[in-house]
Amino acid sequence: MKRHNQHILFSARPQGEIEPANFKVVDVPMPTLDTGEVLVEVRYLAVEPAMKGWMEARADYIAPLQIGDVMRGQGAGVVLKSDNPKFPAGIMVSGPLGWRRYVATDGRSIPLREIPQSASLPAALNVLGITGMTAYFGMLDIGKPQAGSTVLVSGAGGATGSVAGQLARIAGARVIGIAGGKEKCDWLVSGLGFDAAIDYKSEDTTQRVLELCPDGLDVYFDNVGGDILDVALNNLADRARVVLCGGISRYNVSGTVPGPVNYFNLVYRRARMEGFIVLDYAKRFPEAIEVLLQHLDSGELRHRETVLHGFEQLPQALMNLFSGGNIGKQLVAINT
Ligand SMILES: NC(=O)c1ccc[n+]([C@@H]2O[C@H](COP(=O)([O-])OP(=O)(O)OC[C@H]3O[C@@H](n4cnc5c(N)ncnc54)[C@H](OP(=O)(O)O)[C@@H]3O)[C@@H](O)[C@H]2O)c1
Repeated sequence: MKRHNQHILFSARPQGEIEPANFKVVDVPMPTLDTGEVLVEVRYLAVEPAMKGWMEARADYIAPLQIGDVMRGQGAGVVLKSDNPKFPAGIMVSGPLGWRRYVATDGRSIPLREIPQSASLPAALNVLGITGMTAYFGMLDIGKPQAGSTVLVSGAGGATGSVAGQLARIAGARVIGIAGGKEKCDWLVSGLGFDAAIDYKSEDTTQRVLELCPDGLDVYFDNVGGDILDVALNNLADRARVVLCGGISRYNVSGTVPGPVNYFNLVYRRARMEGFIVLDYAKRFPEAIEVLLQHLDSGELRHRETVLHGFEQLPQALMNLFSGGNIGKQLVAINT
């Protein structure tokens, strides 16, 4: 089979929302292997809301993208050729492969991780990848849900939120998800065992949180910020934990973003609000993967992916995150 390599370059900083013109598809030669390197054929690439910050040079926890860089991103694929005994031909690997069809690496310059045989490539980029790590450490290390406690998760129909909410349920908490649209809300309750879901696009979120959480929130896992964060802050139980995972509602706002009006309730409720960056937990990823694999094997934990097909679909996949077009993890299948 004749193989054809392409990259997608970051070609222009977004003015407002991300658009296809921010990227450029280029034909490049197939990589040749140096000593100790492997050739990976990429099968899936993942998109994340944080990419918007990298494109705007606003991501101060990681170096910003420069114009002309290959777009950064997590991927998974198969080792086609290998000169490295750690990654023999035929195994499946994941890592920060970038928006490329084929990648040559020694496995360290682009750190590769072998995907467990029991896991699918989509799962490796979702519940066993950065998404699962974020949900695991954010919910369990910072949120610390207890049996019988009440946990609210925003962005619950997306990748991180859907896993974080299930981990709280597995810990014995009562879990309420906030998501946009009936389909996502139905999936949270019927598919994932959330106790209730609030459709923030068609329901009065303030009223519904009051009804569903009359004793207040013990944990609020925030993926969105903005008005929904303010509703949560207004409904905290004593000693509540607010986990600041992300704030997608602000990622397209230019200029000064208003802060939460209700922050002072943290004082009245003796509560704590804490942000985190998942990369700080890298040394503990193996621990999380082991636990998540057990939950997957037992059937207690489920995952879902929304997959677009075709390398050139990557910009559209990224834009989907901002319009809520994804249920679970948004992926793009390539070379399949
Ligand atoms: N702290 C960390 O280390 C870390 C690591 C990874 C991700 N994150 C953050 O975690 C959050 C979730 O990331 P993800 O990869 O799992 O993405 P995701 O939840 O799969 O996708 C984003 C979702 O956000 C929702 N959304 C978009 N615009 C919104 C708005 N204005 N208001 C409310 N909801 C909105 C959409 O769902 P609806 O249909 O419900 O609107 C969309 O499906 C992001 O904020 C991301 O930056 C943080």
